[in-house]
Amino acid sequence: MSRALDAAARWSDALASWAIPDWILAQAQEDPWALPVALFENRQADLTPSHQRALEVVAAGSTVIDVGAGRCAMSLPLRPPAERIVAVDSAPAMLENSPADVTIVGRWPEVANRAGRAGVVVCGHVVYNVADLVPFIAALNQAATHRVVIEITRSHPRNRPLEQILWRHFWNLDRPNGPGWQDALAVIRESGIEPNVELWESEQRGGFPNLEDLVSWMRRTVCLDRTREAEVRAVVTQHVAERDGLWRLSTEPRALATFWWDVSR
Ligand SMILES: C[S@@+](CC[C@H](N)C(=O)[O-])C[C@H]1O[C@@H](n2cnc3c(N)ncnc32)[C@H](O)[C@@H]1O
Repeated sequence: MSRALDAAARWSDALASWAIPDWILAQAQEDPWALPVALFENRQADLTPSHQRALEVVAAGSTVIDVGAGRCAMSLPLRPPAERIVAVDSAPAMLENSPADVTIVGRWPEVANRAGRAGVVVCGHVVYNVADLVPFIAALNQAATHRVVIEITRSHPRNRPLEQILWRHFWNLDRPNGPGWQDALAVIRESGIEPNVELWESEQRGGFPNLEDLVSWMRRTVCLDRTREAEVRAVVTQHVAERDGLWRLSTEPRALATFWWDVSR
């Protein structure tokens, strides 16, 4: 087995360890993995290092492809100078009333041929959803004529103290920790791409105007039905924080990684 397959297999095994046990999942009335669209509205005032790496090469009037676009937080600050955003997302709700110019509902890389090619391809906070990472990365590389910019949290996004506490409290279940950014980097490298890596921190983004919406999300996340809302609320309120009118899971800075590379053909 090649080293690339080793890294890819380690990645998919680590992601598989996040599967919720069947006996718990059977009790869920709502999708525990569904993310509230409100979390992804672009409220970020500053340009991130990912935006800056993209802006270095986005040509005026060009197209940017945003893979796993959500509400286009990765690509909106690139237009202008870009003229057109092509947003690809597997969740139809994320693309409803999208600020993008073109929307493609579907999973990358399966829908990559519908997106065409663009100078810059951005992909933020998606790879921890992707078990089969090698073809996903290859399709990002193939779609870009100049640069690919990937942003992720340094640790798995569900590896949050509050979620760990809730799983332990309600189900006596310890959740995994990995994979992390170095594992993603290993897969990219062993796919034959040597990306630049930038590690950085930022404020927590997104948040909920109503505490109740955050409580409901956490309740769904740990597979409990509506009758358990008050119990979840009692735990959640000990850990969340309100800042600038938004309720957040944490006020700790987010630790992030940006991978970027120029494609060579
Ligand atoms: C955590 S959100 C990030 C959204 C946005 N990029 C941002 O940074 O705010 C991840 C998004 O990727 C989408 N997604 C996950 N796997 C995908 C795939 N294989 N192809 C396309 N979209 C995917 C999800 O539906 C979700 O909207």
